[in-house]
Amino acid sequence: MDKFYTKTPILDKSSGLILEVIEKCKEEVCFIDFSCGNNYLCNILSKQGVKCFSYDIDPPKNMDADNVITCDWLTVKPHNIGNCVIGINPPFGKNGTEARKFVDHALLFKPLFIVLILPKIRWKIHGYTLMHSEQLDVNSFYIPDGKDFSWPTTLLLLSRNVDSGLRTFIAKSKKNAKLDVDITRKWKNGFTGNMAIIRRAGRNAGHQSYVVSGDSIIYRSNGQWKVTEWTQNKHSVEGDCFLKIYPTDKPFESDYLIGLCEKIDADSDCNKASACVGYITNKFVADRL
Ligand SMILES: C[S@@+](CC[C@H](N)C(=O)[O-])C[C@H]1O[C@@H](n2cnc3c(N)ncnc32)[C@H](O)[C@@H]1O
Repeated sequence: MDKFYTKTPILDKSSGLILEVIEKCKEEVCFIDFSCGNNYLCNILSKQGVKCFSYDIDPPKNMDADNVITCDWLTVKPHNIGNCVIGINPPFGKNGTEARKFVDHALLFKPLFIVLILPKIRWKIHGYTLMHSEQLDVNSFYIPDGKDFSWPTTLLLLSRNVDSGLRTFIAKSKKNAKLDVDITRKWKNGFTGNMAIIRRAGRNAGHQSYVVSGDSIIYRSNGQWKVTEWTQNKHSVEGDCFLKIYPTDKPFESDYLIGLCEKIDADSDCNKASACVGYITNKFVADRL
């Protein structure tokens, strides 16, 4: 488990960013630190009147952990807390894999803003727009015994995009312009635009999908979107079990494809829980464009 703490000037700066966005909101917005360590950040934000929730699986022994909820963040269920900001410095794991899990889990809470200290690799968080990105000094951390700890990291602040309103979006597109698409089982090598890929056969037909948008791939399963690694999945989607939806006229907006996949997921009556094989047809997809 990555155990290093962030130096206070960085957390002071982070609290400034958080306060700035919270103060601009009309409604009450709380702050959730998903891996709070010594809880420095929530302590200062609470003093500013922000309602805070702090989680850590193993807070330091030598601190007053009364205000820390000691548990695994990845098991915390999205509760009814209304508007929130979530972050900030999770364990990173190899190539950021642990950090990615923390962020994915945070997305279930639909935070208005996400504030993160992440290893310096390329991050894309679907549905959020980058407001602030700053490379931190490598010496911004220390380990529990007080010694400096160096790691290249970035401080990020992102805001949630206005919900595109899935059903409205699709209805509007249908009324205004019939999209010209190619719905096919064939995999077009070399296609580089935005596209959707939807499972057509099996008990998960319609319930599993991918939206490919530039270098970013998101995967939908069990009603949730997750950022995924394309290299692991590309091979299986090239086959007959998946329908590919390519534009033939103008390029797709990724939000449009996300809405389409969500609608197909909601409307597919293939039974995820039973072994019973189902399928969705090209027409089923076309009717939902
Ligand atoms: C990199 S440290 C950062 C601590 C603090 N956020 C800071 O910046 O000073 C990561 C923290 O995550 C905690 N942690 C590790 N796995 C966790 C989990 N599954 N759920 C909640 N906290 C976890 C560790 O105990 C540690 O305090």
